[in-house]
Amino acid sequence: MAAEPVNVNEFQELAKQALPKMYYDFYTVGAEDQHTLRENVEAFRRIAIQPRMLVDVSRIDMSTTILGYKTSAPFMIAPTSLHKLAHPEGEVATAKAAAACNTIMALSFTSTCTVEEVSSSCNAVRFFQLYVYKRRDVSAVLVQRAERNGFKAIILTADSPRLGRREADITNKMIAPQLKNLEGLLSIDVDSDKGSNLEAFASRTFDSSLCWKDIEWLRSITSLPILIKGVLTGEDAIKATELGVSGIVVSNHGARQLDYAPASITVLEEVVHAVGGKIPVLFDGGVRRGTDIFKALALGAQAVMVGRPVIYGLAAKGEYGVRRVIEMLKDELELTMALSGCPTVKDITRSHVRTEHDRLQ
Ligand code: FNR
Repeated sequence: MAAEPVNVNEFQELAKQALPKMYYDFYTVGAEDQHTLRENVEAFRRIAIQPRMLVDVSRIDMSTTILGYKTSAPFMIAPTSLHKLAHPEGEVATAKAAAACNTIMALSFTSTCTVEEVSSSCNAVRFFQLYVYKRRDVSAVLVQRAERNGFKAIILTADSPRLGRREADITNKMIAPQLKNLEGLLSIDVDSDKGSNLEAFASRTFDSSLCWKDIEWLRSITSLPILIKGVLTGEDAIKATELGVSGIVVSNHGARQLDYAPASITVLEEVVHAVGGKIPVLFDGGVRRGTDIFKALALGAQAVMVGRPVIYGLAAKGEYGVRRVIEMLKDELELTMALSGCPTVKDITRSHVRTEHDRLQ
């Protein structure tokens, strides 16, 4: 393979070469049979783009706003944990790349750099992803530190009352490093003899009693807008909308939680209909091409989040690798918009795609 990848999938191979197997597996795998993992990518292939001809596409404008924040393209960096296992500069390198590309970054609660380190390293617009721990005080401290350090929104991850069963992590006896954000608050030091110590840590810490009424608690500790990540049904989307949250992320956690959950692109439209335009709907899962971003926008997402490709870029080439991943996706989206007759993001409509469901009708 050429040293310089030409698409984001090629970064995965470079990441594999660069990383110890335990860490590469940690980033790559999905839960159990990994059915949803494959489907997240495959389902995009079953959606066709219906281009329009003879539209003036001499200028393409990909810029848009996400929660009111202007961004150079309709995608952002998904929250993913433990970036220092991919590269010594960890989340700071990712954030610098986001800033250089005018892209929003979501920082994971389980990051290996602190919210303070990430904030002081760059001026990217940042959202903070939240896990709610049994020790609510620990989660609250993190939210308040994020708010103090200029993060603009809280993304509450709703799909993780417990950690999904990732069998490679069990086989490899995955050892996670101390989470820098939690230093002085909680120790990750748990016995990993029986398998993944991440799993053991999660089962000790995650609050599996978390439910809809706890949005009220979250509101009581922060004035930041709250997004709910992990919504996969119209029913839950309506609940979230009724509670007045600021947005939803349609996501199956990159297929790492419940195997046989639907590929997230296949339920996006149901969620968009349920929400009825009242709040923004973001989307993630399986985005590897500009065409994937285009398809998600056509099905009603306001913007898309990208997970693994960013980590692969980071593992392969640090901050530069993340920048290249973002630039490649931007270049591909720009070309897709041009070839589809869509000069701006607003021009991308439902009639620009044809899904399996459409074909059955
Ligand atoms: C994740 N994801 C995730 N989500 C979250 O809310 N908090 C987290 O800490 C993490 N950590 C994490 C680590 C790794 C290695 C992966 C691959 C994913 C899920 C992430 O935000 C996103 O939903 C998916 O990554 C999107 O799917 P793709 O783009 O990876 O296919």
